[in-house]
Amino acid sequence: MLALDHDLRVVTANSSFYEVFKVKPEETLGQLVYDLGDRQWDIPRLREMLETILAQQTTFDDYEVEHDFAAIGQRVMLLNARLIRRPSGVEQIILLAIEDITDRRWAERVLQRHGIELESEIAKKASALQNALQRIEQTTLDTIHRLAKAAEFKDQDTGAHIVRVSHYAAAIARRMGQPQSFADMCLYAVPMHDIGKIGIPDHILQKPGKLNEEEVQKMREHPMIGAAILSGSDSQVLRIAEDVSLTHHERWDGSGYPRGLHNEAIPLVGRITAVVDVFDALCFHRPYREAVPVEQAMKMVQDDRGHAFDPAVVDAFMASKEAIMAIGDRFVDVCQPGFKRGIYKWVAPQTANGANNTDN
Ligand SMILES: [Fe+2]
Ligand SMILES: [Fe+2]
Repeated sequence: MLALDHDLRVVTANSSFYEVFKVKPEETLGQLVYDLGDRQWDIPRLREMLETILAQQTTFDDYEVEHDFAAIGQRVMLLNARLIRRPSGVEQIILLAIEDITDRRWAERVLQRHGIELESEIAKKASALQNALQRIEQTTLDTIHRLAKAAEFKDQDTGAHIVRVSHYAAAIARRMGQPQSFADMCLYAVPMHDIGKIGIPDHILQKPGKLNEEEVQKMREHPMIGAAILSGSDSQVLRIAEDVSLTHHERWDGSGYPRGLHNEAIPLVGRITAVVDVFDALCFHRPYREAVPVEQAMKMVQDDRGHAFDPAVVDAFMASKEAIMAIGDRFVDVCQPGFKRGIYKWVAPQTANGANNTDN
């Protein structure tokens, strides 16, 4: 603490001033404040405060000044001043409180620097974790893709069927106002719907005619077999795929299999898959029946609204007619499965003359 007269000469100083700034009373008292410590106190910011600000008002508060002193080095000071006038109004005294906050500021800067380093370290670790998760997700999707392909070898359905139904399902999910993440899950999980056919004997799967009652019962085990294959995974896609496998033959009115679930007891993804699976199967030739024209297949789906199918799903399906037709055109029946950027990208192979081969 310093007390200055109206000429800014030191009238008195307290002991901590002498201790902190390593100066003696004889070189302090009566000196112009700027001359203290061999003119080390001639600090522009201090001049501004004492001569400009105090001339206009009677106090200044918490002015932080950083200065390099020869005797004590770089210091950060917090300055507060009060201008006190004697009753005559002529004489005045300035009380200048000087707090050395160097250590506090230093500690704050160290903490801030460590904070920044810590943040950067956390960001690096988060990014590495994110990359690892993406690799795991990519690996999971790749595995799913291969699993679906394995089932194709057994079934009469072509690869294009599972691609079309997954894209139909995603289009319907979006039309129903489901989040994009759910539509993406449809793309990944719906191809698994018939994975359980791996467990059905070939003579039933590949029988060129209608199945007898015993064969039908055997075939109806495929949702349970698929769910058993897919169950117990931590992967969200596989858990949804399990739902798809287990419930894609359930019917809205409860007459489906394997459990005869009703209405919303059937997961949405199963209700959606039921519609698109039947629609797509109708549109393509089977050994035991001819393909149905698209318009007629749509009408057959519409006729089963509220019976086999969830009315809301059928409404979204009918409202998505253009998108459905475009998907059907895009993924014709001969496709070469590829895998890119976490989504199924299927490319129709080129014939010798460059046109897409749609003959098979
Ligand atoms: Fe099925
Ligand atoms: Fe299917």
